[in-house]
Amino acid sequence: MKRQAIIENKEEIQKEIEERIGEKRMKHSLRVADMAQDLAIKYGEDPEKAYIAGYYHDCMKIRDKDQLKKATKDYGLAWTEDFDRAPQLVHSFLGAKVAEKRYGIKDPEILSAMAYHTTGKPSMTGLEKIIYLADYGEPMRNFDGVDQARDLIFKDLDSAMFYALNQTIRFLLDKESYITPLSVQARNDFLIKEKTHGQVF
Ligand SMILES: [Fe+2]
Ligand SMILES: [Fe+2]
Repeated sequence: MKRQAIIENKEEIQKEIEERIGEKRMKHSLRVADMAQDLAIKYGEDPEKAYIAGYYHDCMKIRDKDQLKKATKDYGLAWTEDFDRAPQLVHSFLGAKVAEKRYGIKDPEILSAMAYHTTGKPSMTGLEKIIYLADYGEPMRNFDGVDQARDLIFKDLDSAMFYALNQTIRFLLDKESYITPLSVQARNDFLIKEKTHGQVF
C-alpha cells in the first residue's frame, strides 16, 4: 500500500513551485512522485524518500537563462562549462540546492536523486535510478519506445537505465547536440553491467 510522504506546508510550497514552473510541469512532478513511490515499493527502496524526490525534482525548471544564472548565485551553485553547453541540465542540480536550502530537505540520497535526474551518473543508487526512470517513463510521457521503456522499468532497473540512456544519447546525437560526459559514463557503466553481468570481458 502507498504511504503518502509528509511534505510540510504542502499547499503553500506547491503554490510557490507552480508559480515558478507552471501547472503542467507541477502535474508532471506529481505523476513522477507517484510512480517513484510505486517503484520504490517494488524494488525495496524507501517510498517516502522516492515521493519527496519526485515531488521536488523539477522545482527549478525555469527556462530563462538569466534567471537560472541568478538563482545559481543565490543558492551557491557553481556555474560550470557543462551548464553553458547544455543549460537544460542546470535545473536538476539547482533544484537539489533549492530543496535543501529553501524547503529543508536534508537527506543526501533524496538530494542526489534530484541532482542527477537529467544526466544520470556512474554507480547510481536505487533511488537515483528510480527518479531518473519515473521522470523518463511517467504515465503521460509519449515517445517512440515508451511502452518498451515502461516494461523494462517495471522489470529491471539496470536494463531500463541502459535503454533510457542509449535512447537519450541517440536522440542528442541525431540533433548534433552536446552530450555531458556524465551521461556517457553512466551509459558505459550500465553497458558493463548488462553485457557482463559482473564478469570481466
Ligand atoms: Fe527535470
Ligand atoms: Fe521532470
